Amino acid sequence: MPAARASYADGPISIIPKPAHMERRPGRFTFMAATAIAADGKNQGNTAYLRSVLRAGMGLPLPVVPAGTRGSRVELICDTALAELGVEGYRLEVTPETVSITAVDPTGVFYGIQTLRQLLPPALERRGAGAGLDWSIPCLVVEDRPRFGWRGFMLDEGRHFHGKETVLRLLDIMALLKMNIFHWHLTEDQGWRIEIRQYPRLAAIGAHRPGTARNLMAMVCKRHDGVPHSGFYTQDEIREIVGYAAERHITIVPEIEMPGHSRAALAAYPELSCTGGPFEVATGFGIFKDIYCVGKETTFAFLEGVLSEVMDLFPGPYLHIGGDEAPRARWKQCPECQQRMVQEGITDAHGLQLYLTNRMARFLDAHGRRLVGWNNILNPGLDASAILQYWVGRKRPIIEAMGQGRQVIISSFLHYYLDHSYSLTSLRKAYEFEPHFAELDAAAAQQLLGVEAPLWAEWVPNRARLEYQVFPRLLAVAETGWSPATARAYLDFAARLPRLLDRLDIWQVGYARGHAIEPPSLEQALGIFTILQSQTKTADG
Ligand code: ACM
Ligand code: ZN
Repeated sequence: MPAARASYADGPISIIPKPAHMERRPGRFTFMAATAIAADGKNQGNTAYLRSVLRAGMGLPLPVVPAGTRGSRVELICDTALAELGVEGYRLEVTPETVSITAVDPTGVFYGIQTLRQLLPPALERRGAGAGLDWSIPCLVVEDRPRFGWRGFMLDEGRHFHGKETVLRLLDIMALLKMNIFHWHLTEDQGWRIEIRQYPRLAAIGAHRPGTARNLMAMVCKRHDGVPHSGFYTQDEIREIVGYAAERHITIVPEIEMPGHSRAALAAYPELSCTGGPFEVATGFGIFKDIYCVGKETTFAFLEGVLSEVMDLFPGPYLHIGGDEAPRARWKQCPECQQRMVQEGITDAHGLQLYLTNRMARFLDAHGRRLVGWNNILNPGLDASAILQYWVGRKRPIIEAMGQGRQVIISSFLHYYLDHSYSLTSLRKAYEFEPHFAELDAAAAQQLLGVEAPLWAEWVPNRARLEYQVFPRLLAVAETGWSPATARAYLDFAARLPRLLDRLDIWQVGYARGHAIEPPSLEQALGIFTILQSQTKTADG
């Protein structure tokens, strides 16, 4: 025992996200060779997970023993008496003899494990850190539950394909932060990233582009770097990732964009457009006029076929259909789209998108799933089941919709878009953003499902850039999603941050250091300007 050295357990407790209630008590618990894990039948998955987390760093045997066994132990127990903490809440009690994590559901126990993990020294995360270290934690009681049920992160792999290892690594970090929704943006103008067996050309053609416009000048001049960019997930890989997420109590929300941002799909199946094409997978970025034709029944057969395979792969309750940034120019010129309008009594092009969205909502509903879309899908007559993801535009229609029972996720463009430079969206700005709009009354506030931070990847070509953009800002969003609003204070968060960053350092996560922070690139500045300007032009965002 290195008794002379100060123990990590004597220092401040630094948990991110901050627990709802925590009370420190005198004394410590120390993991030893004899420490066992005592779990009930419901916590076998958690037992395997906890052992894998603890044994790699501690090098202790941590045998599994039946619940009720005495001696130095970590108990993982489900108990209906804790029902008031909800499915995701937990109680963690540390005494000199026992670490006890109890919850009504294994999900809550899993989050208790994440708190336990952050009580231990960061060296825990280093494989083979060794049994010689002092694996002590302070005695305490934590009673904790999340503020919101939706604590999300979105990754755009359409613009750049990052691949399985990067996704698994992100899921691991999300778990540490008690985040529970991974929104996976899998289709874009620049790439289709998921194997669909009924439509093999989506991957064969849509997953490849001959190059990428690497800056604004290249985009304007329609030039690309000539370096092919390819990648898609096979259905087997998707299943593996979905399983990995489920072990971490993370639901994946796949996004299949429609009707816009669909150039890669139209390159593969140009007959689904209004003009018939031909098209190429986009090498530059922006908003493209050619989108799915909503006059043709074959478009619906295609979309429903795709969504059917997607539902087979992703067991979660939500399916995102995008719905943002869909120009209607082609629909206005297309005889079939015009005929659809006449047939359905639709009077404007907004109505055509509404027709598509509502048909998809009903299709998903018939299969037990909920449609999610960007707030651009909000129009009078939108199917009541559709969930909005608010990113930009006027707040008033969103607040009114919430008053009428519409569920909403908050992804405020200026606060939560992780692709922005830190000079525009600092860590503090992300942290201090309050998703509960002041204008919401109590009933409307019930419709606020939670928060999500998107990473759009036009200018995110590799993992280093990805990690720089995402971290540490994702920690701020995680805390807003989990911790009580009254417990949130930036300076307190900033004081807890270094101990979490120590863990990211061990994992070699390339987060943005210090508050340094480069000005936005020209590409970014223009992108932001364009979006904000388009908002002032359209009445309803
Ligand atoms: C978006 O950023 N176009 C949703
Ligand atoms: Zn059409």
